[in-house]
Amino acid sequence: MSKHRKIRLGMIGGGLNSFIGIVHRIAAYMGEEYTLIGGAFDSNYESALEFANKLELDPARTYPNIDTFIEKELALPENERIEAVVVVTPNFLHYPMAKQLIQAGFHVICEKPVTNTAAEAIELEELVHKHKVVFTLTHTYTGYPMVRQMKTMIAQGALGKIQKVDAQYYQGWINPVIHDKDKRATVWRLDPAKAGQSCCMGDIGVHAFNMIEYTTGLKTLKVLADVDTLYEDNPLDIDGTAMCKFDNGAKGLVRASQIATAEENNLRIAVYGTKASLKWEQENPNYLYFLQEGQPLQVLKPGHEYNGDLAKISTKMAPGHPEGIFDSMANIYLGTARAIRGEAYLEGAFPTIRDGVRGMKFIEAVLASAGNGNVWTEIVD
Ligand code: NAI
Repeated sequence: MSKHRKIRLGMIGGGLNSFIGIVHRIAAYMGEEYTLIGGAFDSNYESALEFANKLELDPARTYPNIDTFIEKELALPENERIEAVVVVTPNFLHYPMAKQLIQAGFHVICEKPVTNTAAEAIELEELVHKHKVVFTLTHTYTGYPMVRQMKTMIAQGALGKIQKVDAQYYQGWINPVIHDKDKRATVWRLDPAKAGQSCCMGDIGVHAFNMIEYTTGLKTLKVLADVDTLYEDNPLDIDGTAMCKFDNGAKGLVRASQIATAEENNLRIAVYGTKASLKWEQENPNYLYFLQEGQPLQVLKPGHEYNGDLAKISTKMAPGHPEGIFDSMANIYLGTARAIRGEAYLEGAFPTIRDGVRGMKFIEAVLASAGNGNVWTEIVD
């Protein structure tokens, strides 16, 4: 038996009061594959040190910024140096930080949207290939066992030919913010300097888009979109709908909103084929609904033998123990660990920079379509 060695992990952002940092840290630990060693956890160094103290991390490996992080880590012997770095900062920092890290030879686990522009995502893709590093994009929902089962069943032809896809991501949290100018100013997601070109489509529409391409394997060729900012002095979209045409001739919808009053995290996808259909929703992630003409509804669940390999390796507990958002992210970290170790992994084990390029092209096509008077706009790859 060879000695198991955990991957040395670093983190940029994700500090004390961050929203999604905790999900990454727990996910990284779940599979016993990573140890968090250090990072530049916060824009405020004092807060970063306080955070490191809370986690009992070595303050010497807690850096004031990413430049110092890279410089000091590269100066360490290779067998001590952090190997993979998670980027969990607001959107505008993903591209410059990921670029620096890739060029310095670190594997990168990055939050979405991967960059501010498609051109930046393409540049990162080239750098990932050039520097031969692993790049994971944390489209968290692709880690759920039943989303993975959906992907497997569709690939096996369980639905026949896909003829309609409907992906929706509805939240309501911006409703109480958008009508109050003072509150608006406190939300970085509404600030183009921090969020990038889009709020709603970049934050959640891109998850719905990714779910379609991940589960169905279809490529979106064109979109006809409409987006809304609600107020003239609010620069970024907070609601949007995109009709999509796919490379098998089918059509579909990406519907996203952050002003769907009182909705929580209502991401759902339905894929309709000539033989059967599949439906899944994030707020009840352990149920995958399989609908067949003239047959009673079937509900598939994690942990059962009837699931395919991708769902099986993504399930830790016996049937009846719910798998949630932490487990989903952990599955992405597990697939990434295999890639970092140079081990074989199943297709779909984690989203990559390719998903990032596709997502950014989708966001830009949506905004161009809406901006040009709601016209069909190609996504050229
Ligand atoms: P947040 O605002 O709660 O946290 C951001 C963190 O980054 C804070 O700890 C802040 O101090 C730190 N930070 C800011 N500038 C920094 C710098 N220059 N150097 C080091 N640290 C810095 O943001 P939240 O909601 O956690 O989002 C972070 C990213 O994660 C966003 O890109 C967002 O789109 C993405 N996200 C993804 C989700 C998913 O389901 N995959 C869910 C929520 C967020």
